[in-house]
Amino acid sequence: MSLNVLVTGASGYIGGSIVAEILSLKRGGTLGALVIHAAVRSLEQAQSLTKLDVNVFQLNLSDETAVTESLLSNDIDLVINNATCIDPQIASSLISGLQKQREATGREVFFVQTTGLSAFDENTNWPFGEVKDTDNVYGLERQSRETYVVREVDTFVIEQTKKAGVTGFLIFPPTLHGRGSGTWNQLSPQIPALIQASINHKQVYKFGESRDATLAHVSDVAKFYGQLIEAIFLGKKLPAGEDGHYFLVSHVVSWWDIMDRLAANLHERGLVTTASTKVWPSDEMAAESVGVPTRFAHSIWNSSPKVLCEKATIIGWKPVWTGESFLNSLYQEVDDFLELGLPKSSLLHSLKPVSGHDMN
Ligand SMILES: NC(=O)c1ccc[n+]([C@@H]2O[C@H](COP(=O)([O-])OP(=O)(O)OC[C@H]3O[C@@H](n4cnc5c(N)ncnc54)[C@H](OP(=O)(O)O)[C@@H]3O)[C@@H](O)[C@H]2O)c1
Repeated sequence: MSLNVLVTGASGYIGGSIVAEILSLKRGGTLGALVIHAAVRSLEQAQSLTKLDVNVFQLNLSDETAVTESLLSNDIDLVINNATCIDPQIASSLISGLQKQREATGREVFFVQTTGLSAFDENTNWPFGEVKDTDNVYGLERQSRETYVVREVDTFVIEQTKKAGVTGFLIFPPTLHGRGSGTWNQLSPQIPALIQASINHKQVYKFGESRDATLAHVSDVAKFYGQLIEAIFLGKKLPAGEDGHYFLVSHVVSWWDIMDRLAANLHERGLVTTASTKVWPSDEMAAESVGVPTRFAHSIWNSSPKVLCEKATIIGWKPVWTGESFLNSLYQEVDDFLELGLPKSSLLHSLKPVSGHDMN
């Protein structure tokens, strides 16, 4: 069997790492017959991918006609959408294109949406406390869809895929760390933004109450996607649609421990004046320092979703990173930031237009 897969946001941190992971599975023979298509936004991003064994093209994901044309002309049966989890229009164009592909070929088609565990954090008004990915996550998100844009889009994806006869999956990574293996943006925004803010203030700040960060290394998350694509490729029947929610937490570390370790690292390099942390004087100052609207500061840098991950093990996912190895790698995170600067990504900027919609 051959399978054409389209990875959107392929120049991004997660999308780029997924492309690298499936290319290595292809080289290893496991996914030898897979053809990888990569959608990006700009010419520069496209150029960064041209050396890889992928078919790269620029695509406006909001343009339903252009998206459908690309899916049909490249015979794509599987889309992994990493571009955004806050814009229903993009998910809608991709799902509608897959529906046309199914109608044209009579084959099963698949839509995988990368979303995020912030949907289950009390900072985003999640009202139900701890949740397992084997619970009725669809039903719970549907009941609280109006209070957070990510839950709204998650629910929309499940409903649209069902209507369109597309097999749908929602993948929920936690806060990610580590250097990505893509060709364009290799950094997640959270830790670099904290490092930049600390260097600007010559001081590491933290929020007043320490909560537990749920985390995973980007390489472990990319491995999950490789395993998911392999399972789809081999025709395995996996929980999908209303049951298609997969949480990917690998370890939990307190935000204060992260900030303390960061302060020690930055102080050792002379980038802050003290190895001690201080509490942010106000949420407004915190938000301005990391460059997001105030309402997002806690949900990104003090998030603590209480989740239990059970489904990912079905396809054999076993993350290798631990809380200890993460804390030990913070020195490397600072090195990566000093080498690469802030992420080449519009992710944090894209929060500005939706801030009015968000947690009201
Ligand atoms: N990083 C994390 O820790 C994390 C954790 C959980 C969930 N997530 C979610 O996972 C998804 C990917 O995150 P990421 O960290 O990989 O972000 P990223 O590095 O910014 O990657 C997103 C990519 O999608 C592209 N993109 C965004 N909007 C687009 C559009 N309208 N049309 C075409 N391309 C578009 C971006 O291009 P430009 O650079 O040109 O904008 C970028 O290359 C996001 O939905 C994010 O919220 C991320």
